[in-house]
Formats: sequence, C-alpha cells, structure tokens
Amino acid sequence: MATAPAKLILCGEHAVVYGRPAIALPLADIRATATVTLLPPGSGPLISAPDLGGQWRVAERPDEPLSGLVMAVIERFGLPADVEITIRSAIPIASGMGSGAAIATAIVRELLAHNGQTLPPAAISELVYESERGYHGTPSGIDNTVVAFEQPIWFQRRPSLPPLIEPLPIGAPLTLVVGDSGVRSPTRLPVGAVRERWQADPARYESLFDQVGALVEQARAALATGDAARLGPLLSANHELLREIGVSSPELDRLVAAAQAAGALGAKLAGAGWGGVMLALTTPEQAATVTDALRAAGAANALVTTIAATG
Ligand code: PMV
Repeated sequence: MATAPAKLILCGEHAVVYGRPAIALPLADIRATATVTLLPPGSGPLISAPDLGGQWRVAERPDEPLSGLVMAVIERFGLPADVEITIRSAIPIASGMGSGAAIATAIVRELLAHNGQTLPPAAISELVYESERGYHGTPSGIDNTVVAFEQPIWFQRRPSLPPLIEPLPIGAPLTLVVGDSGVRSPTRLPVGAVRERWQADPARYESLFDQVGALVEQARAALATGDAARLGPLLSANHELLREIGVSSPELDRLVAAAQAAGALGAKLAGAGWGGVMLALTTPEQAATVTDALRAAGAANALVTTIAATG
C-alpha cells in the first residue's frame, strides 16, 4: 500500500497562478491510499474507489484523468497492466485539501512500488501535474508539488523555467484549525472566474496579486522565526484580499469571522474558494475553543492539525 498526504495552501492561492509566491503545507495525518493487486491476464487496469463511489475499467473511461495517469505510468515504466488499483481517501473532495493530487500521488507510488520501483518526488510531481491538468485546466502545480514532496514549500511559477520550489523552514510548531464549509466547489470554477476578471481589468487584479505576494513574503519570515502572533494577521489580511479577488463565499466569511471572534491569531479561506475549507491559526490552548466556534457557526466539520517545526 502507498499513501500521500492532504495539503493546505497557507497563503498565496490564486495569485500563485499569476506568478506570485505561495506557501503550502502537507497534512501528514490526513491521507489517501492506493493498493495494487494482480488480476487475471488480459483484464487490463481496473480502478476501484469504494469511498468515492466508483469502479471502472481504464479502457472504458480513457478520458477520465486517473485513467490517463494509470495508462501513462504503466506504459512509461513497463509495469504489469492486469491490475486492480483500489483507492481510499480520508480527504474531502473539492474542498481545497488536495484530494485529487493525493490520490494521484498514492496511485503512482503504489504502481511503481508494486513493481519494486521508486521515483524521486519531483518526477512523481510531474506525472501528477499532468493528471491534475485533466481536472483543472491550468493548475499552478502547487498541489502536486507539496503532496509529492510532503514538506512545507515555497512555490513560485517562473516564465520559461520550471517553478521555483524551496523547502520552507518552520521555526516553531503551528496549530491550525481547519473548518469545512460543507460546500463542494471544483477548483476550476473560481480559477476560471478569476481569469475572466483579470482579463477584464488586469491593472486591478495585478495590484491585488502583488498585495498577496507581499503578504506571502512576510509570512515566510514569520514562519522561519516561528512567530505565530505575526503570522496570524497576515493570514487574515490574505482573506480580505481573496474576498476582493472574488473567491470567498458567505459560508467561508462566516467561519473566518467566527474563528477570529473566538480568539484565533488569524483566519482565511484555503484553496480555490467559493466553498471547501478555511483555516485558523491558533495557539495550542485556543484550538478547542476555535473548533467549537466553527461548529457553532455551521462548519460541516472542524479538525485540529499541527505542522511540525523543521529541523
Ligand atoms: O486545489 P485547491 O482548491 O487547493 O486550489 C488550488 C489553488 C489555486 O491557486 C486557486 C489554483 C492553482 O492552480 O494554484
């Protein structure tokens, strides 16, 4: 069995599509898993996803992005094709937690491991990026990167170069409370809406993206010194900019406000927006109070997770 973690974008989503930096974190305790078993000769690859409600032969749904990924990996690495790939995931789908990237990463790792092979994270990330394109059109690549590398990362696209990917020093553990709005929103919808608005008024959106980028730079410094009190307001300011960019929602705004009122150091939507999750940065002592406040404000789910300091 191979696994891969969920992820959160701590700050910089959307602006990252337009070349500004963003920071993403893996959530080691929320994972997707894939298991490969051999099928009789001639069966061809079969994908079983009991939690996600489906089972299909890759040959029957060749345009499905996971089918494309499975075929590409089997062909490229000469792997056995008569396999059943069973996927399980504790990561809510279409919620900004990287469910698609984690499932795809677990599949690639397991297909290779079943044949005694491994690949470095950068190569796995590239394969997963191709399958993410099937879901999202033009993803920045931040999701597949943080999931495959499984460490906090600084990510920035660059013209005519591969993206800049740097492991990010974290000076002290972070306590995050993740609140799920319960609204499922596919990434490509807000991403497409932002593109239309940017095309209609590039000066305004470039300025908003610059402001996000400046916050992300400051967040990096606060993370390095483990200064949660400084990081919190930066996250809340990022939420305000995401509202202006037009990707928040009444549910997300309500949860962010509830977390702030309950004493969180900062709070923001996380991921593409219009639904999915928000995150609140808290002290370890505040986490339970903020979790309760999120539930009281209508969160479909709220959980506490800790990001470890880096060595
Ligand atoms: O997949 P999500 O919901 O975490 O959102 C991806 C982040 C965006 O910046 C909105 C899009 C992208 O491709 O980076």
